[in-house]
Amino acid sequence: MADGIFITFEGGEGSGKSTQIKRLKDKLESAGRDVVLTREPGGSPGAEEIRQLLVTGAPNRWEPVTEAMLLAAARHDHVVRTIRPALMRGAIVLCDRFYDSSIAYQGYAHGLGPQVIETLTDIAVGDTRPDLTFIFDMDVETGLARARGRGDGEDRYEQMDLAFHQALRQAYRDIAANHPERCVMVAADQSMDAVEAEIRQALKDRLSL
Ligand code: TMP
Repeated sequence: MADGIFITFEGGEGSGKSTQIKRLKDKLESAGRDVVLTREPGGSPGAEEIRQLLVTGAPNRWEPVTEAMLLAAARHDHVVRTIRPALMRGAIVLCDRFYDSSIAYQGYAHGLGPQVIETLTDIAVGDTRPDLTFIFDMDVETGLARARGRGDGEDRYEQMDLAFHQALRQAYRDIAANHPERCVMVAADQSMDAVEAEIRQALKDRLSL
């Protein structure tokens, strides 16, 4: 799609990806690049409204299929209103979570299976697919402790049990193994500088960026 580059960041709770995305945005902007930092669920006015339905309330607030469809609806709005226009004008889009989150959370950890999510994803994103995906991998309990310390009220997923989060970690590892051409695993329990260095190296090797 035009000359833009689409990079997504994935991982379990508290893995430090949001901090790394901000660092990368600053670096790329200092180098004169047009960068759009966005996130899911959210990233467009309509999708941010849907986000509130997803990240607050009791863990069992939604049936898994309802939840997957809400996520797909938010994703479609986000792709059409934010991501595609940015890619069309040649920007670098850095997105905090994208459809791999649905594969991992809803497809595997919630047990819907990957096929349902892939069908919804085809409808939601069409051919707008990431060029590169970083998967932040770290010890589940450490990540959860970090995420729960935030106290931002967006804790619906953090309340899910340890088995859910462990299934999630395995799901992300499987996604990385199944899509080596697109995915790079990052050992997220290192120092922030070490994680940043891994990301910069991968961007150089994979995208000459
Ligand atoms: P965040 O904490 O990274 O902002 O993401 C909000 C929560 O939404 C996070 O706990 C993961 C969850 N989520 C899904 O379950 N499926 C998805 O497709 C996305 C994008 C997020």
